[in-house]
Amino acid sequence: MRIVCVGGGPGGLYFALLMKKADPRHQITVIERNRSDDTFGFGVVFSDATMAAVAGADSDTYGEIAHHLVHWDDIEVNYRGERIVSSGHGFSGMSRHTLLRVLQEQACGAGVEVRFEREVTSLDVCAAADVVVASDGANSAMRRLLEGRIRTTMDVRANRFVWLGTTKPFPAFTFYFKQTEHGLWRVHAYQYEPGRSTFIVECREETWKAAGMDHGSEQETAAFLEHLFAEELDGHPLSVNRSIWRQFPTIRTEPWWTGNVVLLGDAAHTAHFSVGSGTRMAMEDAVALRDALVEHVSPASPSPAPDAIASALRTYELRRRPPVESLQRAAQASLHWFEDTERYMSLDPLQFTFTLLTRSLRITHEDLRVRDPRFLARVDEWVAREAERQVGVPNARTLRVTPPPMFTPFRLRDLVLTNRVVVSPMCQYVAEDGTVGEWHLVHLGSRAMGGAGLVMAEMTDVSREARISPWCAGLYQPEHAARWKQIVDFVHRETPAAIGVQLGHAGRKGATQRLWEGDNEPLPHGGWPLMSASPIPYFPDRSPVPREMTEADMSCVVADFARASELARDAGFDLLEIHMAHGYLLASFISPLTNTRTDEYGGALANRMRFPLMVFDACREVWPDGRPMSARISAVDWMPGGMEPEDAVEVARLLEAHGCDIVDVSAGQTVPDQRPAYGRLFQTPFADRIRHEVGIATMALGNISSYMDVNTIIAAGRADLCVLARAHLFDPYWTRHAAWMLGYPLPWPDPYKSVERYTPRFEFRFSGDKS
Ligand SMILES: Cc1cc2nc3c(=O)[nH]c(=O)nc-3n(C[C@H](O)[C@H](O)[C@H](O)COP(=O)(O)OP(=O)(O)OC[C@H]3O[C@@H](n4cnc5c(N)ncnc54)[C@H](O)[C@@H]3O)c2cc1C
Ligand SMILES: Cc1cc2nc3c(=O)[nH]c(=O)nc-3n(C[C@H](O)[C@H](O)[C@H](O)COP(=O)(O)O)c2cc1C
Repeated sequence: MRIVCVGGGPGGLYFALLMKKADPRHQITVIERNRSDDTFGFGVVFSDATMAAVAGADSDTYGEIAHHLVHWDDIEVNYRGERIVSSGHGFSGMSRHTLLRVLQEQACGAGVEVRFEREVTSLDVCAAADVVVASDGANSAMRRLLEGRIRTTMDVRANRFVWLGTTKPFPAFTFYFKQTEHGLWRVHAYQYEPGRSTFIVECREETWKAAGMDHGSEQETAAFLEHLFAEELDGHPLSVNRSIWRQFPTIRTEPWWTGNVVLLGDAAHTAHFSVGSGTRMAMEDAVALRDALVEHVSPASPSPAPDAIASALRTYELRRRPPVESLQRAAQASLHWFEDTERYMSLDPLQFTFTLLTRSLRITHEDLRVRDPRFLARVDEWVAREAERQVGVPNARTLRVTPPPMFTPFRLRDLVLTNRVVVSPMCQYVAEDGTVGEWHLVHLGSRAMGGAGLVMAEMTDVSREARISPWCAGLYQPEHAARWKQIVDFVHRETPAAIGVQLGHAGRKGATQRLWEGDNEPLPHGGWPLMSASPIPYFPDRSPVPREMTEADMSCVVADFARASELARDAGFDLLEIHMAHGYLLASFISPLTNTRTDEYGGALANRMRFPLMVFDACREVWPDGRPMSARISAVDWMPGGMEPEDAVEVARLLEAHGCDIVDVSAGQTVPDQRPAYGRLFQTPFADRIRHEVGIATMALGNISSYMDVNTIIAAGRADLCVLARAHLFDPYWTRHAAWMLGYPLPWPDPYKSVERYTPRFEFRFSGDKS
């Protein structure tokens, strides 16, 4: 096969040498525009796992690389005068220059032709090759030449960073956070060979400008930063190597191949330097591309069929895209953390370090237990003590062990929850004219027995017309309250759980079928007139057009919410939540996508919040002072022109000013054509932002399903409570099972005491594709 690699960075060189070693008959040329010893930057960092993968792919190259690695286990965080060290992280550093030299030597030794100082500027290179590998980095010329056939999105981030070197031998991966009159500076530093370290400085644009760095030369930048970090550098100088201030571009491309050209490494995708994975991804791409070509293209054929090449390139993309995208998601979470570090500057140093370590979601509380049990014990003890302080009862622990974060208590007014797990409100669609029955008793009762600290009853409607469907629960008749009371009494009598109710009005999403019959699909018959902020139907083609609410309608709805709150109070619920999310009536006022009013209930956010706050005030008025209230909001509409996270911060601020105790932070479901960015914990960043920027307690929800994530969220202070919906449908005893897995002795109810001497044998066998 004739192969040309455009670009002799780690990706192109590594692929070339792996492919040549796979079959020396291949003719492989690497074209590199720079000289052989030119290289930008200083060091690269690899995790132990990456090194194991390199060892598996080619032991000779690994042997040469391993020779030059500087290994460290510690991450050191310097923050507000304190130095916190966490161990067990297993990384290696290496000079980028040395890495390239080793790869060049290995490639040339294997018979690869490397042509330096040649720049590829056209696609002519493709004509004489069976496969062309575009490994020409983030600013790939090949990608540009293929525009139209390959779609590229480039998300250029706001923060500025500069890559410098120093002779200070950092013994750990070291972070500095330094506040000056210009703003906050972050440093990522690590040693890549004895006596040589990478020193990356990052800051917000306003800090960069305030310090005059926007017109500083390379030398001026180094001099300024050397002075700023004189203490941290211990007299060591900073050195430059094309050290210009940059903004990180997150690059995504689709597809990764066209014709006989395939993208590899930074040309195809980038991941923020704070997860230290760019070189690793390029090298893993190289291994995957080699494997796919070896698998699909017959070694005997000197000139393989285009079909075989296409199959190989398709396989490469199919295999590599999922892990690359997963890493890009982690990198995105990490870069957000570094863009928003100012938000966390008041945290306790221990918690700050914990948030830093867990920022990309890849490392959880549980991973840190394995990596550094002593550090984790300190974090858990700190969280437990903070919880006792918040609850107001020091040394209140009933058990003589430090509870994992999820098993710490939490106070909201007079209500003290025994742990941080919440069963999310979930409509059951089995009520009769608003009256709940045995299903609800068993559904909520079993989840309360399952150990959650708070069980939320489903969206319960404040009038007959407020229902989503004819089978929704209500609180608009005294008998509704009486039936709810039986459930509330059971939960209070038999379990330590608290129970809350979510009051709502469906608005334009009313008169629909049950979830399992057709989500948000209008009833074929038997519907009722709908109302909303504006006369915009949910599904433009088939939902009824709601009438625009008048002030008289608003007064009626306010009265309905107040009456329902009184009924909820009489039923004995511990917490009252007002549903202001998911496009229902109150949400329809908040989102600009569904509120096009021109009166004082439309327009600016403060106006759009007017009616939801009138409802909230009316409920707060009748709801007992000692009992807390929450509001569920959609922090983002996942739609251009809709609610954005910064709007949600303002919504939360207004709610807090009106006596809301905790915000239940959901997202979306406002419009049917929303484009959510789903993923694990995908809504948690909104709860985190509101909690820190407003200073109000938050509940995180959305794709939280493991106890590791709950512990991580609580310990990092991303939210105060974690709300799980489908995980609780799957397993009503979710909290008990988490306690068992964590070795936390959560007491069982008396009739079940025998379980304390029983060892369950979990046999989770996964069969079938559940993707
Ligand atoms: C500040 C910073 C810190 C980083 N830290 C780390 C880290 O710690 N660990 C890590 O793994 N990664 C790190 N990276 C990322 C890492 O440098 C890249 O992800 C990695 O080098 C990608 O390898 P590559 O082979 O795809 O591209 P590159 O290394 O960019 O190589 C591309 C090559 O193609 C050549 N080229 C470009 N255009 C042409 C052309 N038209 N014709 C011929 N040749 C061409 C270039 O000269 C270059 O040599 C960091 C990046 C930055 C910016
Ligand atoms: C069956 C079902 C019913 C739901 N009913 C409600 C509801 O009554 N009120 C509400 O705010 N959200 C409702 N939701 C949304 C959940 O509360 C939760 O926000 C969503 O499922 C995401 O959480 P998860 O990823 O833990 O499932 C419902 C979800 C499900 C699966």
